[in-house]
Amino acid sequence: MILFPTSAGSRLVLNALSLALCVGITASVGASAAYADQSALPKLSAKTPLRVGFAQTESNNPWRLAETKSFKDVAAKCGWQMVLTDAGGSAAKQVSDIQSMIAQHVDLIVFPPREEKPLAPIVLQAKKAGIPVILVDRDVDQSLAKAGRDYITFIGSDFINQGQRAADWLVTATGGKAKIIELEGSTGASAANDRKKGFNDVIAKNAGMSIIASQSGDFSRDKGRQVMETLLQAHPEVTAVYAHNDEMALGAIAAIKAAGKQPGKDIILVTIDGTKGGMDAIAAGELGASVQSSPFFGPLACDVAQKFAKGEAVPPWVKVSDRFYDKQNVAQNMQYGY
Ligand code: AHR
Repeated sequence: MILFPTSAGSRLVLNALSLALCVGITASVGASAAYADQSALPKLSAKTPLRVGFAQTESNNPWRLAETKSFKDVAAKCGWQMVLTDAGGSAAKQVSDIQSMIAQHVDLIVFPPREEKPLAPIVLQAKKAGIPVILVDRDVDQSLAKAGRDYITFIGSDFINQGQRAADWLVTATGGKAKIIELEGSTGASAANDRKKGFNDVIAKNAGMSIIASQSGDFSRDKGRQVMETLLQAHPEVTAVYAHNDEMALGAIAAIKAAGKQPGKDIILVTIDGTKGGMDAIAAGELGASVQSSPFFGPLACDVAQKFAKGEAVPPWVKVSDRFYDKQNVAQNMQYGY
């Protein structure tokens, strides 16, 4: 369910999230969340059908496919006619995809900004054109465009917290002693920036732990494998890997095996996403743990849009809660894999 604090501070429970609950996603906003003055935002019509643009960043991993599917699946129920685009991993293409949606005068634009800064100006362009925007999954740089003022809201996980949870697990699993290789996500993405910050902050407080190398694998399995191959040669002393997503961790596992080492024994891995592939690797003992990052934003975006169209207040961040999987609980949670 989504819990929206009312302006009086009490909580209003928003219904119609049965779909979200089916896929195991919950979202909430603390009572302290400040509401911006939303009067400057473009209005959203309550008509159906509503023409809704969804501008995907790329479709190169199960997480992205699950995210796109959640919008396709909710469209009919929500009365949305979808205009779908795929930027193929290019921030510039995502900008031009959204420009085209603005030119088509869609009623609402929803998208995960591939990178924090390059995608901020297009949010302002949509606002100027009178089209409301909901950001999902990743956010834009708040100094360039602000949630609640320039776009309706950001619906997504707390990426800093995900990085902290991954680090906390690794500290315990290694007894506070590790030489870590970090495989970062796409450069400039809020998911990569914040997951790095959360993890690094915890590691810095543990004298026996150090990050010996850190490089982007662009959230892709193959790039993760290639980067890991190179870093393994340069740093044979590595004892742990922190990957910003499951796909890069799976690529790293392939590289570790190819180098004649045993993932899960010689090198312990921790990651983020909770994909089916990641959960299978935990069950096989090759991956230590994965912090879930839910991709099922379609039902949440639908509810937020309907609420906003009715003139009800929407918080600037609809925070998604994430599960955590390790060998203790992975078997019982397989139904949440995607
Ligand atoms: O922004 C979320 C991240 O983007 C997911 O962890 C990753 O798999 C995706 O590409």
